[in-house]
Amino acid sequence: MSKLHILIFPAPSQGHITSMLNLAELLCATTSFRVTFLVPAYIHRRLSQHSNATSRLNHLPLRLHPIPHGPHEDIRPGSFDVKDWLDSLSSTAQPSLRELLADDEDPIDCVISDGILSFVLETAEEAGVPVFYMRTLSACAFWVYFCLPHLIQSQELPFDCDDLDLTMVNLRGMEGVLRRRDLPRCCRHGLDSRTMQTIMHQTLQTPRPRGLILNTFDHLEAPTLDLIRTRIPNLYAVGPLHAHLKTRLTGNSSSTSLWEEDKTCLKWLDDQPENSVFYVSFGSIVRVTAEAQTELWHGLVNSGKRFLWVVRTDSGGMEIADGGRGRVVGWAPQEAVLAHPAVGGFVTHCGWNSTLESVVAGVPMVCWPHFGDQQVNSRFVDGVWGIGRDMKDHCDRVVVEKMVRDVMEDRSCEFQRRARDLAKAARESVVEGGTSYYDLDRLIQDIRDVCS
Ligand code: UDX
Repeated sequence: MSKLHILIFPAPSQGHITSMLNLAELLCATTSFRVTFLVPAYIHRRLSQHSNATSRLNHLPLRLHPIPHGPHEDIRPGSFDVKDWLDSLSSTAQPSLRELLADDEDPIDCVISDGILSFVLETAEEAGVPVFYMRTLSACAFWVYFCLPHLIQSQELPFDCDDLDLTMVNLRGMEGVLRRRDLPRCCRHGLDSRTMQTIMHQTLQTPRPRGLILNTFDHLEAPTLDLIRTRIPNLYAVGPLHAHLKTRLTGNSSSTSLWEEDKTCLKWLDDQPENSVFYVSFGSIVRVTAEAQTELWHGLVNSGKRFLWVVRTDSGGMEIADGGRGRVVGWAPQEAVLAHPAVGGFVTHCGWNSTLESVVAGVPMVCWPHFGDQQVNSRFVDGVWGIGRDMKDHCDRVVVEKMVRDVMEDRSCEFQRRARDLAKAARESVVEGGTSYYDLDRLIQDIRDVCS
């Protein structure tokens, strides 16, 4: 039987590519599918240069397909406008997409589109090809975005930023949990915010495709997943995808990095005592000001803890030198770092991949969120899951020192215990009998059914 041909289109950014490439590999590991994975040419080049994706994919029926890109598509931290980014991507990628969808020699049976690329949905619908959506964020952050129109209708948005500690009352399922300051940062900028309008427009399209795939697991987000199902009944919670990949595919550990990984930091970690190092990283987009970086540095040094800090060359801030207790790298092999026994805490921006990677490794977090879903994730890490502390808008040296000590010093501390319990639940969800294992099988069967 010939394999069904799936086209996967992620938004061209590290966080989106990582999780959608993991899904692509999982689908290719079955005998049913082969995948064409669309990325702009500059991402294709960086994946070939820095990740082991191309060699790893050689043994799978998975092809990275480069498409042209426009001037606004490479994310430059600090000057990033989500609307320009998506508009530019849509105008340059659509012709290639149409061509691929019209190719009778090598027809596409099904599309899995990033759920913030509604032009992919429209183009595939025009071509009569079934579409599934995948969102690369948490269920809780997705639900907040989904509820924004309701918050506007009930006049809880826009709000006065003088009192950001007021709790939300019209956010179903999260009443009393989220404060104004825990909403995506764009909510602080009034209803005309381009980011808010764009994200709201994209999110409102989510009920249109055949189903929604989320990189999360039932044990972590069951109440929110149930709420989403009331509006989008066909939901697949298949995460954590990187853990899922490890259980279903054996072989070399994967890297999907767009930057060169500095693996020497693993050797440095080997020389540090168990649970003694804080890993510090803010993902691929966040820009850190010199002032904030100084506060973080003082907070870490004053805590007396060792640290391994990722400072991307494009992340702003200042140069930080390696020292006795600290090591600085440009880009780390993050999954391996978090799994290292020397690492006992993670100062993170709470991007969803980083959060999930920390959950799977059982490492408690100190959260310093910047924008978007990170604001919501960090509130859940602290106030709901109890596996870390949320700095939110207060990054100063005293707060950093206190939170780092809170998370790492008290060995009997609940953070460690809950982090270990959640890590166990995450691992159980992706093995046979687990909820994510079941949902992935259901997704595979449903894709087969819509294609037949
Ligand atoms: C963005 C958003 O910020 C995030 O909230 C959204 O859910 C997806 O898109 P990003 O900011 O890059 O992503 O954060 P994150 O989702 O955490 O993804 C970063 C990825 O880069 C992680 O998989 C992490 O392991 C990897 N990484 C980061 C490295 O491999 N090495 C590093 O040094 C830093």
